[in-house]
Amino acid sequence: MNTDDTTTNTEAVTGTVDIVLAGARGHGRWHLENIRRLQDKGIVRLAGICELTPLTAEEIPEGLGTPEQSADFGALLDATGARIAVICTPIPTHTDLALAAAERGVHVLLEKPPAPSYAEFRRMADGVAGAGIACQIGFQSLGSHAVPAIRRLIEEGAIGELTGIGGAGAWARAESYYRRAPWAGKRRMNGVDVIDGALTNPLAHAVATALALADASRAEDVTRIETELQRANDIESDDTSCVRVTTASGLRVTVAVTLCAENPGDPYVVVHGDRGRITYWYKQDRVLLQRAGHGPEEYEYGSTDLLENLVGHLTDGDELLVAPEATGAFMKVVEAIRLAPDPAPLPASAWRLLPDEERRVVPGIDGLVAAAADTLALYSELGADWARPHEANEVSP
Ligand SMILES: NC(=O)c1ccc[n+]([C@@H]2O[C@H](COP(=O)([O-])OP(=O)(O)OC[C@H]3O[C@@H](n4cnc5c(N)ncnc54)[C@H](O)[C@@H]3O)[C@@H](O)[C@H]2O)c1
Repeated sequence: MNTDDTTTNTEAVTGTVDIVLAGARGHGRWHLENIRRLQDKGIVRLAGICELTPLTAEEIPEGLGTPEQSADFGALLDATGARIAVICTPIPTHTDLALAAAERGVHVLLEKPPAPSYAEFRRMADGVAGAGIACQIGFQSLGSHAVPAIRRLIEEGAIGELTGIGGAGAWARAESYYRRAPWAGKRRMNGVDVIDGALTNPLAHAVATALALADASRAEDVTRIETELQRANDIESDDTSCVRVTTASGLRVTVAVTLCAENPGDPYVVVHGDRGRITYWYKQDRVLLQRAGHGPEEYEYGSTDLLENLVGHLTDGDELLVAPEATGAFMKVVEAIRLAPDPAPLPASAWRLLPDEERRVVPGIDGLVAAAADTLALYSELGADWARPHEANEVSP
């Protein structure tokens, strides 16, 4: 969000930009499709795929040709001479892969969450800054044109004085979701941090977007973090959690999430003012403005693809939308969750299995998630009898 963070290697990038994708199964399939879309526009070319085992011809979308493949990321960057690496691998691999690209002068689109701890985040962010490469973090909700539009509405006083920001995410995940990869639902694996929880991974966009709308996206913008981490599933990490961040300007940002919703819905962030509120459904780029003296107003926005923005940054000097430092406050939340006691299992009476969908649901959670976003209160303060009183963390600089 600030070009000062993104001083880019002076060597000009022109013409079609060659890309290597690391991690092409899982969410990487979405990147393959997106790269094909940009290849059709003549902007990029898929030069290589780094996976643990090569993709079969059927796994590569038509039109992408036969990119080079290797499990050795550095060797593939060297062999292809690619200018951008898209890194969509498991969380604990992010820092080393980003630094392997940086030391070769290769620019990076790194999936969120950027790292599983604040120390690993700093190692990555300082390394890429030192190498002078551009690094975009894959919070695509921050590419939405709704974000600057909402910031403008706030600054113009459309909803009066800001009183706080809420975030709500009620999603459903089957038990098989946690079996799809060895790191899924883990806090640590083989002695290294993973921190794959509901707030830090699937609903991380809710946290990062709420912080961005609070104008508190940098590490130094956060002074206090309270967490409540619970789980209904048989996993290490949390699946039903909330967090309240106090910003340096004294604003409270509460985000409540679950992967055990009764009736899953689209996650949203709600900006509260003393004369109205703005609700932003970040997966739909849709905004509802409700303010005193006006009827409800609804707006839909476009969004800028983060890979396209990274290419535009390199070729035309476009402002990079999500530089690492713009995820510093989010990473303070990841760190607070990492340092918190392991998530408490919910009592068997607090959840039930939906046999047809093979997923666990927490009765009443959908209402609690919405109430937390509305009132900025945590689950324990809303009277959830299973909620463990929160852990508070003063944030050190
Ligand atoms: N932006 C989003 O909306 C979004 C959505 C889903 C996942 N993600 C992020 O994408 C990343 C991948 O998540 P996933 O759910 O697809 O994980 P996954 O484990 O399902 O897939 C990761 C892929 O990376 C491969 N891989 C593992 N180590 C590798 C290495 N060292 N080099 C090359 N390939 C390697 C695996 O074989 C696998 O195919 C995570 O950071 C996740 O948080 C982002």
